[in-house]
Amino acid sequence: MKKIEELNLDGKKVIIRVDYNVPLDENGEIVDDNRIVESLKTIKYCLERNCKLILLSHLGKVKTEDDLKKKSLKVVSERLSELLGMNVKFIPKTRGKEIEDAISNMNEKDIIMLENTRFEDLDGKKESGNDPELGKYWASLGDVFINDAFGTCHRSHASNVGIASNMEEKALGFLIQKEVDNLQLVIDNPKKPFVVILGGAKISDKIETIKNLSLKADYILVGGAMAYTFLKAKGMNVGKSLIDEESLDFAKEMLEKTDKIILPIDSIVSKDMVIDNYEVKETLDSDDIGLDIGPKTIKLFESYIEKSKTLFWNGPMGYYEKEIYQTGTKELCDFISKQDIISVVGGGDTASCVINMGYKDKFTHVSTGGGASLELLEGKELPGISCMGR
Ligand code: 3PG
Repeated sequence: MKKIEELNLDGKKVIIRVDYNVPLDENGEIVDDNRIVESLKTIKYCLERNCKLILLSHLGKVKTEDDLKKKSLKVVSERLSELLGMNVKFIPKTRGKEIEDAISNMNEKDIIMLENTRFEDLDGKKESGNDPELGKYWASLGDVFINDAFGTCHRSHASNVGIASNMEEKALGFLIQKEVDNLQLVIDNPKKPFVVILGGAKISDKIETIKNLSLKADYILVGGAMAYTFLKAKGMNVGKSLIDEESLDFAKEMLEKTDKIILPIDSIVSKDMVIDNYEVKETLDSDDIGLDIGPKTIKLFESYIEKSKTLFWNGPMGYYEKEIYQTGTKELCDFISKQDIISVVGGGDTASCVINMGYKDKFTHVSTGGGASLELLEGKELPGISCMGR
């Protein structure tokens, strides 16, 4: 598979698929710009080679007309302009004359960004369904294709696989290369003991990852709502905590098969998720909702982390949306950042936590991919990477 350094890019029109699917707050402001920051290396490299850049990305899922107002990439183009200190021309279209005219008027080192590729989903899922005409059209806009959207590599969409299959000259950008190199540290022969921390709510999304990691890891520390499904499978009273009912049998099976799974021994509980009133409990009552790991669990998990040489972490330890239930996640983040180990964080809320706390540089790698990093760890081939050739 070609790498960006192997391409002759001088003065070319380069289409870059980036993953600017960044979290936005209720006012539409960017909450975490890490994915934009991490894309800069490839963009700057192309600018140094006098390229004309055409950037494509999705932002969220687009299912209704209302999404067209809420999920425009305009705010992202503005942030990118700020980070680069130059104008990024935003074109609020995904195809058509306005785009084609703008491209034919581009000078060397100009950048344009098209509108959210998933706006094409409103009319028959053309982006997500990898409509052959759409991929061909987007590919026709440039001379070269660089895929640098690691977070989207587990998807087979028109803006990655579709473009790649219509383009001779193509390569992986620096962001994807860095992701793959660092995730390989965990996938291939991790230094032992290898500890995995898993959190978040749903087990069903992560069944394959859990199975695969249980073969490689020495310990799997489980927090977040996911832990209550395992605790219930063990026969414990979890009160009204969030349970992934459809995964109870799987959780039971895993607990019978392996003793590598380490579960919380205490929880931060509340009777109501809305009211900020909580206490620490080792045994839950039937009206308790577990919302974070407790102090004894933090110490327990730290004792495993301390012994580890490689660590992979995906998923927050509590109901992260509320600050008062972020303690478990934050304390583990702080503890891990002080260890001299290979530490890799999967994307999503855990990555945001590490970055917001200012610990990004203290971890070996903070992935920009949520689902993509998990699928890579499952041992799956990612279509967004394999489409780039052998
Ligand atoms: C992500 O955030 O995981 C990627 O951008 C992919 O987004 P998706 O899950 O909406 O396809």
